Amino acid sequence: SEQYRFVVVANRLPVDEIVDDDGKRAWTRSPGGLVSALQPTVRARRGAWIGWAGGTGEAPEPFALDGMWLHPIALTQQELDHYYEGESNATIWPLYHDAVETPAFHRHWREAYRRVNQRFAEAAAELAAPGAVVWVHDYQLQLVPAMLRELRPDLRIGFFLHIPFPPVELFMQLPWRTQILKGLLGADLVGFQRPGGAENFLRLTHNLGLEPEGDRVVVDGRTVTARAFPISIDVDEMEKLAADPHIRQRAKQLSEELGGHRRLLLGVDRLDYTKGIEHRLKAYRELLAEGRLSNQDVALVQVATPSRLRVAQYRQLRERVEREVGRINGEFGEVGLAPVHYLFRSYDREELLALYLAADVMVVTPLRDGMNLVAKEYVAARTDNSGALVLSEFTGAAAELPEAFGVNPHDVDGLKEAFVAALETPAEELGERMRRMREHVCAHDVGRWAREFLDALGEPPG
Ligand code: UDP
Ligand code: G6P
Repeated sequence: SEQYRFVVVANRLPVDEIVDDDGKRAWTRSPGGLVSALQPTVRARRGAWIGWAGGTGEAPEPFALDGMWLHPIALTQQELDHYYEGESNATIWPLYHDAVETPAFHRHWREAYRRVNQRFAEAAAELAAPGAVVWVHDYQLQLVPAMLRELRPDLRIGFFLHIPFPPVELFMQLPWRTQILKGLLGADLVGFQRPGGAENFLRLTHNLGLEPEGDRVVVDGRTVTARAFPISIDVDEMEKLAADPHIRQRAKQLSEELGGHRRLLLGVDRLDYTKGIEHRLKAYRELLAEGRLSNQDVALVQVATPSRLRVAQYRQLRERVEREVGRINGEFGEVGLAPVHYLFRSYDREELLALYLAADVMVVTPLRDGMNLVAKEYVAARTDNSGALVLSEFTGAAAELPEAFGVNPHDVDGLKEAFVAALETPAEELGERMRRMREHVCAHDVGRWAREFLDALGEPPG
């Protein structure tokens, strides 16, 4: 079978296979920022993408899409439970996000994680041409670099972690921390969102008796580099959509449907406990209760994309968020005028862009987030420099966007002040802030992120 010079390995394919009640199959865009960033990257290089198609049982046949070669990996129901929902999303996800929810540790999850990682590594070993570049992604696949090197020492292997790499004390809680570290050290280049992540990782290699120097560490005579490569968005795509007359018209229509003159606050998140949705709602409710905001003048639209709903913590979060939305609408709503518009679904780029264009204030308040692409997308979409961004200091994006209204989401009073400030700051100052943020995002788009990573990884000889 055909082999590729550029292969991406990620838990998710860019599309999910959905099977409806009649057994009819269709493809939809997969959720999350990883897919948003990798899709233009793989497309531009006409590469292969190895990933899971979202179901269980037999995997769909490999197929071409949009200039990419998609190679689905099968998961059994038990692997879905143990590898995806267990080890990946109930242990590693919360642990790496500062344990904002308590991580669960189960020995039998680990075996599925190892087995599935081996399956991804074997698929990559088959698809990669001699000397090819293989780029492995995210916390679900941390063992793949070493497994792949074992199978194919000729490859250039990169790894990028899309979520935060935790402080040393948190990482040390992982019972199989040594295997994870060795897994990552199988790569030639390990990339993180922030320099702190790379530093934490390098510090941990001391535990293996290694002696890092600067951003490098020598493992079995091989040099591994660990550095930050802050991820970004497809700015051209955003600007093109933002200029589309249909989408601009749709944005106007959305504003009118919300009540014409009401100012719009917008949140767009996967329904995830790292996103600070509850803190955001609490601040908004208190502002309404104190009369500092009036339901006549403002509305909050919260898009909450369904995510990982078989994991208990996500189900419980959904319950709490929906109760709070009901409470706010019940207390402060009027007939035909709801203070919170809660949308439990996933939107396509077009509708999302219309929302970005309609929003006076974008509220991005995660408790912890590797980057947060929604914040950058909003900035890229505001081509007339209008609009305000409220941004948690615990996102990767905050380090790049100091002109946002920075907040500590744990500080509810601070959140309230930031909402009010974003609504009350004169247009001229907002314009200046947005202009600077746009300058940064436009100069650091996802194309540059990929180029910098792949340059540092080094083109294969020949
Ligand atoms: N997104 C989307 N439709 C939705 C909600 C979100 O396409 O209804 C996209 C959004 O445009 C962004 C990504 O999902 O590109 C979310 O990335 P982010 O880094 O903000 O968060 P993540 O979900 O990866 O934690
Ligand atoms: C984050 C993770 C990705 C993941 C995405 C969606 O962006 O970094 O690896 O794909 O969330 O989550 P899901 O579990 O649906 O793939």
